[in-house]
Amino acid sequence: MTPAIKIGDPFITADAIRQRVKEMALQINQDYTPTGRALSVIIVLKGACFFAIDLLRHLTVSTRLDFLQASSYSGMGSTGEVHLHKDITMPIAGTDVLLVEDIVDTGLTASWLLQHLSSHSPASVRLCSLLDKPRGRRIPAKIDYVGFVIPDEFVLGYGLDYDEAYRNLPAIYVAKPY
Ligand code: XMP
Ligand code: MG
Repeated sequence: MTPAIKIGDPFITADAIRQRVKEMALQINQDYTPTGRALSVIIVLKGACFFAIDLLRHLTVSTRLDFLQASSYSGMGSTGEVHLHKDITMPIAGTDVLLVEDIVDTGLTASWLLQHLSSHSPASVRLCSLLDKPRGRRIPAKIDYVGFVIPDEFVLGYGLDYDEAYRNLPAIYVAKPY
């Protein structure tokens, strides 16, 4: 059984998320509009869904969408191994790719996925993550678009889960073990 947790006040409010997501989208629009090409947006299931969909609503560049699913976490800790549960099915060769993550912690998942996508010979690959937990880093990960840099705490809400629960919360909370 997974241990009980407690959550307090929002750590990042729904308003702050909305504002920041809009700013990130404006930056992405500025960077990719000049290319005149469609952007292949690859969303990492399941955590990044809420963020990615809100971000996409503000994108004015044309986009193509696909999903992949990977995991390196069990409960509140990283297992250190990346498992690919679902791969992309959309061809991305020769296109600009934007990988959308919920959070970069150890950096293992993001760097593994970036390498995996690079093997499909895209024109470019960039990483966009709502959250960055730099204190957790085990391998370097260059994040091109970051929403919020956060301390080394386990967070949930707005897509982030604790054993699949709490994803639907509109804000982000710090979870503490009881
Ligand atoms: P790594 O360590 O590979 O982790 O950079 C990335 C993945 O781990 C999950 N993760 C979290 N999930 N609250 C969560 O709900 C957290 O604080 C947290 N930290 C890492 C997440 O799935 C991410 O894609
Ligand atoms: Mg998770």
